[in-house]
Amino acid sequence: MTTLTVLGIETSCDETAAAVVRRDAAGHVEVLSSVVGSQIAAHAPYGGVVPEIAARAHVESIDGIVAEALAEAGLGYDGLSGVAATAGPGLVGGVMVGLSFGKAVALARGLPLVAVNHLEGHAVSARLAADIPYPFLLLLVSGGHCQLLAVEGVGACKRLGSTIDDAAGEAFDKIAKTLGLPYPGGPALEKLAEGGNPEAFALPRALLGRKDFDFSFSGLKTAAARLAEGVTDETGRRDLAAAVQAAIARQLSERTDRAMAAYAQAYGSQGLRFVVAGGVAANKAVRAKLMETAQSHGFSFDAPPLAYCTDNAAMIALAGAERLALGLTDPLDAAARPRWPLDAAAAAANPTHLAGRKGAKA
Ligand code: KG4
Ligand code: ZN
Repeated sequence: MTTLTVLGIETSCDETAAAVVRRDAAGHVEVLSSVVGSQIAAHAPYGGVVPEIAARAHVESIDGIVAEALAEAGLGYDGLSGVAATAGPGLVGGVMVGLSFGKAVALARGLPLVAVNHLEGHAVSARLAADIPYPFLLLLVSGGHCQLLAVEGVGACKRLGSTIDDAAGEAFDKIAKTLGLPYPGGPALEKLAEGGNPEAFALPRALLGRKDFDFSFSGLKTAAARLAEGVTDETGRRDLAAAVQAAIARQLSERTDRAMAAYAQAYGSQGLRFVVAGGVAANKAVRAKLMETAQSHGFSFDAPPLAYCTDNAAMIALAGAERLALGLTDPLDAAARPRWPLDAAAAAANPTHLAGRKGAKA
């Protein structure tokens, strides 16, 4: 096995991203460049991501972003060993833009293509900066996803639990909106919560007493919206933001706590490792609470550096490099997939949502 230098492309939501990652035969990883072009300004007037605007913005910026990533890495296309592009899950118009671009590069340059599952990208994102061997317990918390997975290896995930309504990031975003905060709400709510008193408001705890590892944020969302109506002063807003953040962190840690006990039984002989990834992993209160939980169960704790928590292409390039190292490639007619669960068997046996545009996306 040789050293692989992979171009990653990510366009599944509202970031147009490209990166070049090098991975050597021993698995050592180096991020040569990671460029993220945010569309926040284009979507902000609408309070959320508008799929058509996102797709158009990806078309307009993808070639420039890829050129920037290659220039920063000091490479041309001839310095690459392969191309990895997100093929789903996500807003399919945007996914098609990045995947088509990746296919074109692969075809023109005779490079292997890897059609990457965006969630697999998040799953390996902590491995961009730390040596974390498989298997590990993963809490994936982003704007579209909230699930606990046993990650056994490349492309081998077992889902332990997932949200039955909103994803954690979606809850942050929606509650932030009721507090009058701009999109994306998660980081804005975290900022507002600074110095607030999380004890000032009592918020509901969901699914307490349930024996599974599922999440639910709809009750919290409703309660927070009702409380927000009665809050008029800045102190009240700050306290409510702190209480919401603490409630989300608490639920994530309660479910993770249960999952750690089960994971230890099944995988304990292979080591106890915990990773939190996805946009919500950028939240300091969430990180702190989960670190405590990991410590109490004797698990190691890892989270990606902040830049690799939210959507980026370095994680897609690494997921691609790990697949390429195993000889796994995809044909040039690989499809863009709006839905694409990591653990297809669990998703089919126990769907946590029905078809449609609402709720968890995988
Ligand atoms: O991983 P990501 O960039 O995109 C998806 O794949 O969904 O996650 C974006 C989500 C948004 O819901 C955003 O509000 C949330 O992550 N987020 C945060 C923070 N930074 C991003 N939530 C809470 N605190 C943060 N600091
Ligand atoms: Zn994501």
